[in-house]
Amino acid sequence: MGGRSFCHPRSTVFLVLCYAIFLHHCCFFCEAVALTDPKEVKALRIIASKMGNTKWNFSVDPCSRDPSWYTLDDREGELGAICNCAFNKNTTCHVCEIKILYEEMTGIIPPEMANLTYLENIDLRYNLLHGSIPASLGSLTRMQYLSFGINNLSGEIPKEFGKLTNMISLSLDQNDLSGMIPPELGNLTNLEKLYIRSNQFSGEIPTTFSNLKKMRLFWASSNNFTGKIPDFIGNYWSQLENLKLEGTSFEGPIPLSISNLTNLNSLIIRDIPRGGTLLSFLQNLKNLTILVLSNNMISGEIPEYIGELNQLQML
Ligand SMILES: *[C@@H]1O[C@H](CO)[C@@H](O)[C@H](O)[C@H]1NC(C)=O
Ligand SMILES: *[C@@H]1O[C@H](CO)[C@@H](O)[C@H](O)[C@H]1NC(C)=O
Ligand SMILES: *[C@@H]1O[C@H](CO)[C@@H](O)[C@H](O)[C@H]1NC(C)=O
Ligand SMILES: *[C@@H]1O[C@H](CO)[C@@H](O)[C@H](O)[C@H]1NC(C)=O
Ligand SMILES: *[C@@H]1O[C@H](CO)[C@@H](O)[C@H](O)[C@H]1NC(C)=O
Ligand SMILES: *[C@@H]1O[C@H](CO)[C@@H](O)[C@H](O)[C@H]1NC(C)=O
Ligand SMILES: *[C@@H]1O[C@H](CO)[C@@H](O)[C@H](O)[C@H]1NC(C)=O
Ligand SMILES: *[C@@H]1O[C@H](CO)[C@@H](O)[C@H](O)[C@H]1NC(C)=O
Repeated sequence: MGGRSFCHPRSTVFLVLCYAIFLHHCCFFCEAVALTDPKEVKALRIIASKMGNTKWNFSVDPCSRDPSWYTLDDREGELGAICNCAFNKNTTCHVCEIKILYEEMTGIIPPEMANLTYLENIDLRYNLLHGSIPASLGSLTRMQYLSFGINNLSGEIPKEFGKLTNMISLSLDQNDLSGMIPPELGNLTNLEKLYIRSNQFSGEIPTTFSNLKKMRLFWASSNNFTGKIPDFIGNYWSQLENLKLEGTSFEGPIPLSISNLTNLNSLIIRDIPRGGTLLSFLQNLKNLTILVLSNNMISGEIPEYIGELNQLQML
């Protein structure tokens, strides 16, 4: 599993109508029309009905780029089945991306999504989906971008997600998810972005997260996390650029290891009781442009070198 995407929108395939008289020559011009794998069409029908999606038109092939299947970058909403049609000598399409955004879908995330085995990107943000996240999705090991943010999902993150080791970005912001973050997610060593804000997650951030050395963005605000802000963030997430921890139940002090994160450009840590003394950890963070450390009961004076952080915009 190289982690490289093969998911490009299909090249346009022309259907040349061949009249009998030209039949001998026509295949010189003809290309076969590629069709979606019938097993995937069957799964898509179930997915549509369970999500409450009546917009997909099953009279046309899902990978046909018919507008009902391929409306992208639209202010009114997005509906996309993006396919790779290069299989079987360009005759079979597999769905590799599903995008359904701003469509007011009120159903569930169907376990049958797992039957679309070529999926590497699912984006269902800005809907009203409820119910839990199906564990079956843990079998979609090509997955790189999974976005379920801004829905009404409940339950826990399935531990089976630990198998999605090609994952680059996981976005679950603004749902009603709860429980501990499964330690298995520490296996997602390609993960660069994790959005879990505004849920009901509790417990500590698993220590296995020290393996997530490619992490660039970690937004975990507005949850019920307890324990200390983990030291490993500063010791192992050396690529980290953007950290948000507001409105959690973490205890202080803010670990000094944060000072190792010289790539940080946005650091927002609020509402930590006994946040620590002085702001000594800030000294190395020359790339900071956004810094919010309010309501942390930080004691001591603002150090003079704050003036040296010349890119800083907000304090
Ligand atoms: C999905 O896959 C499972 C296991 O391979 C199979 O039993 C089931 O029939 C499939 N469902 C659909 C709708 O294709
Ligand atoms: C679905 O597609 C068929 C074939 O193009 C078309 O005749 C039909 O009107 C479409 N249905 C809807 C609801 O748009
Ligand atoms: C499939 O289509 C692509 C792009 O149109 C073409 O470059 C390639 O040669 C085709 N492959 C086969 C096996 O026909
Ligand atoms: C979200 O789900 C909860 C139950 O879990 C329900 O009470 C609430 O009405 C739902 N909200 C929306 C906007 O569907
Ligand atoms: C994933 O992580 C868990 C807990 O951290 C571990 O027990 C398990 O062996 C790992 N699984 C794989 C496939 O690496
Ligand atoms: C999380 O904290 C909020 C506010 O303190 C509380 O209402 C809610 O019950 C807590 N949820 C869990 C799952 O602990
Ligand atoms: C990170 O910072 C801590 C405390 O300032 C220090 O002890 C540790 O050696 C540093 N780790 C790395 C990897 O630089
Ligand atoms: C600061 O940011 C710039 C560009 O944004 C980058 O080239 C540079 O490597 C960063 N510096 C550090 C110390 O990470």
